[in-house]
Amino acid sequence: MTARRAAGRAPRRTRDRAVGLLGRSPAMRELVDQVRRFAEADANVLITGETGSGKDLVALALHASGPRRSRPFVKVDCPSLPHNLIESELFGHERGAFTDASVAKPGKFELAGKGTIYLDGVAELPIDGQAKLLRLVEEKQAERLGGTASYPLQARVIASADADLESAVRNGLFRGDLYHRLRVLPLRVPPLRERRQDIALLARAFLREAARRHGRGRLRLDAGAVSALERHAWPGNVRELKHVMERAVLSLDPSRDEVGAEDLPLDLFDELSALYDADASGRPTLDELERRYVELVLRETKDRQEEAARILGISRKALWEKRRRYGLR
Ligand SMILES: Nc1ncnc2c1ncn2[C@@H]1O[C@H](COP(=O)(O)OP(=O)(O)O)[C@@H](O)[C@H]1O
Ligand SMILES: [Mg+2]
Repeated sequence: MTARRAAGRAPRRTRDRAVGLLGRSPAMRELVDQVRRFAEADANVLITGETGSGKDLVALALHASGPRRSRPFVKVDCPSLPHNLIESELFGHERGAFTDASVAKPGKFELAGKGTIYLDGVAELPIDGQAKLLRLVEEKQAERLGGTASYPLQARVIASADADLESAVRNGLFRGDLYHRLRVLPLRVPPLRERRQDIALLARAFLREAARRHGRGRLRLDAGAVSALERHAWPGNVRELKHVMERAVLSLDPSRDEVGAEDLPLDLFDELSALYDADASGRPTLDELERRYVELVLRETKDRQEEAARILGISRKALWEKRRRYGLR
């Protein structure tokens, strides 16, 4: 997503508010408040959160609702930078600095000018790039590769990380001094499963948007769809929800205008593996696991008892007892 496109899509009325961040859960309100406060400050921000939770959107909101909004927003996708080009991409190079450098090229920090530079996936920067980045954020200057004159760092630095950057620091994969420099203002974007109150609202917004894009009229979610969405584990977070709504719109028969649970392409497998992936303290007990699995199979079989019992390898009577025990309709 380029900054220009994203900024252009943001509704005008949210211009000086936290751009485009939907959600009314306490966790989301707290995040939006922090974004507003941090937008006014000039210190470095480190955004952490799982993939798809909204880190890019938060970075953009910080930029677009702060005093640098009319300046460039330059995103650097750290994981996709080829190792040997990292320094020249970030810091620029002079002509002849290396074999292919036939012309001088400014780095991303120079391109960002007095705007914002967003280092997405900063945990992936190799250790030598980290050293140079540290110097830049400490001394607020850098040189292009092969150059002698230095240029000042004027852009605000925002970085993001998916993984637990703290453990990368403990394991010596990420410099602790750089970590502290980047994390002057820490922002944690909670995973979607920690703000289930936002699911229906987000789903409706994405449904409306996808329906418009695909030339469909107004579409609704029925109650079963809402409860299936609210129960799903969302390992891919908001991005996964967006894709699910998109696919639901594409596969919905043109004669229908209501989306039911059975129209939602929710991946059972994802859901089970997400249960297991939870950190050890949050792992389910055997009972919880059984309840979730029975629930998933019932959903998948659209409540056909016979089929569900067969998949689970139990009798219909045993299934009935489990449903009663776990309070499954
Ligand atoms: N709170 C939110 N409100 C509206 N859209 C959101 C929200 N959070 C995430 N999104 C959307 O979900 C998708 C994934 O978000 P993104 O910022 O790219 O996640 P990340 O960078 O954490 O992987 C994007 O299309 C983004 O616009
Ligand atoms: Mg991202």
